[in-house]
Amino acid sequence: MNNKIKLGVNIDHIAVLREARQVNDPDILHALNVACINGADQITIHLREDRRHIQDIDAKNIIMHSTLPVNMECSINKDILNIISDLRPHRVTLVPEKREEVTTEGGLDVFKYEDEISFAIEQLHDCIIPVSLFVDPTVEAIEKSKELGAEMVELHTGLFSNLFAMLNSSLPYSNHSVKELELPRYELSSRLEKAIEDIKISAKRANSIGLEVAAGHGLNYHNVHKMIEIKEITELNIGQSIIARSVFTGLADAIKEMKRLTTR
Ligand code: PXP
Repeated sequence: MNNKIKLGVNIDHIAVLREARQVNDPDILHALNVACINGADQITIHLREDRRHIQDIDAKNIIMHSTLPVNMECSINKDILNIISDLRPHRVTLVPEKREEVTTEGGLDVFKYEDEISFAIEQLHDCIIPVSLFVDPTVEAIEKSKELGAEMVELHTGLFSNLFAMLNSSLPYSNHSVKELELPRYELSSRLEKAIEDIKISAKRANSIGLEVAAGHGLNYHNVHKMIEIKEITELNIGQSIIARSVFTGLADAIKEMKRLTTR
């Protein structure tokens, strides 16, 4: 397989650490060159409505100083869209957002919020910013994304990642076991196969109608090989696992290793 896969490194988690102490350390800008020289192809950040990690000034500085393209995730909230339209990142990925969630749960509901999404895409296109929609891996969501005018989709790999971890890691024995997935192993296996198949079918359909295909959420050093096998996926956005590993190995090695694992 010689179609390349881009690695987007989501650096929000560095700002999570900084915000936990409400100080200026770690400096998120330090991550930009480390990412660039160790194989990342893109920087991904999420300007959340509650500003729990990335702040407006971070977004501005990252876009100004990153030599890599910046993929900016955001909700369809009008105030956020106005800020981002002014910042002009290389691309925007529209994601659902709930204040009480720990991280993005589920894909964007492209049917329920059809008008808001279409308005957001129009506003971003007016600023010459291409748009990706973060959606659950269903053919219906893919086809709707195309109809709404997106250039790209990012397939939500959260269910796949949870199933993989419940089957292949200590997650079920931890405090963070996924309650609804506390199931017999044979049931987890068959659901995992189905989750992978859904991602494959969605990626194929997206590719066939001219959408670029990314994937992300919960991907890590153990499960990412399953995504690499799907040739229509040309970009992965990965955060938590890279930053978690960097605590032990340093950010440079953590990115290098992920790049190695995601090189086709
Ligand atoms: N892609 C999108 C659209 C996301 O919202 C997130 C989480 O911020 C990621 C990728 C990265 O997920 P993770 O931190 O689990 O690797």
